[in-house]
Amino acid sequence: RHNIPTARYRSFTADNIEEGYRFLEELKPPYVLKADGLAAGKGVLILPTIEEARESLKEMLSGMFGASSATVVIEEFLSGIECSVFVLTDGNDYRVLPVAKDYKRIGEGDTGLNTGGMGAVSPVPFADDSFMEKVRTRIIEPTVKGLASEGITYRGFIFLGLINVEGEPMVIEYNVRMGDPETEAVMLRIDSDLVELMQAAARGNLGDLELRQDPRTAVTVMMVSGGYPGSYEKGKLISGLDKVTQSTVFHAGTKRDAEGNVVTSGGRVLSVSSYGDSIADALANSYASIALIDFDGRYFRRDIGRDLMVLQQK
Ligand code: GLY
Repeated sequence: RHNIPTARYRSFTADNIEEGYRFLEELKPPYVLKADGLAAGKGVLILPTIEEARESLKEMLSGMFGASSATVVIEEFLSGIECSVFVLTDGNDYRVLPVAKDYKRIGEGDTGLNTGGMGAVSPVPFADDSFMEKVRTRIIEPTVKGLASEGITYRGFIFLGLINVEGEPMVIEYNVRMGDPETEAVMLRIDSDLVELMQAAARGNLGDLELRQDPRTAVTVMMVSGGYPGSYEKGKLISGLDKVTQSTVFHAGTKRDAEGNVVTSGGRVLSVSSYGDSIADALANSYASIALIDFDGRYFRRDIGRDLMVLQQK
């Protein structure tokens, strides 16, 4: 409704499935099919051929994801690198937080199952001034104005999941929250008082405040339980936390046992965040801290930020 750049798409139900088949013919492979309702993050299928896309459309509309796929969105596939842009708004003014890129898959090289996030890097080298100017004018401002023009007073964070398609930012998704694990890198790069900013957003005077960004790079690397995102054991003793001096360790899946020891209590256990003068430098700090922290079965990705470093070298 507000001409915000996103993939070409249309929605279909069992009543107009034939139109859905015709729309698929207009698109190029691969084909993206999304359950329109909530499907616990599993409701998106990417199909390599039109035959598979037709078959999946029929199955989704016949209840593959229950009621959540009674309507299916068929979407053009966008190819590029994703990044996450966070905006704080009071419904009128807005401030843009540091941009980050997250790593969702369990395996190195972005392979394997999706997780709640295995690491993040901020800033994102391709999100330079010219890219961010496009994000501001084409996406953020129409979003903030669009909400207001539809009578929605929205005060809080807007999470823009973007994809860079040959230098052009396109919206993949919106969330009304911060992102995890982006937050564990982004917060290190906010130099202003976040509480003051959030109070101003709530009170409607965000325009009076600046959001200053720390120029350093910040990264976070998630340490997870062996087996995650499948089944894993809990209650493993975590050692070495007191030895960490060059990182901030955010606790995600930990607790104290009866003796007061810190033990694992979830899949994503610790998020180890560090500053550096470059992505490589910040990562070296996080990996050095991780080397000091131990628990039985611990796992982390050793390739966080590698794709961005390759881009930087090109
Ligand atoms: N890191 C993606 C999310 O929070 O949804």
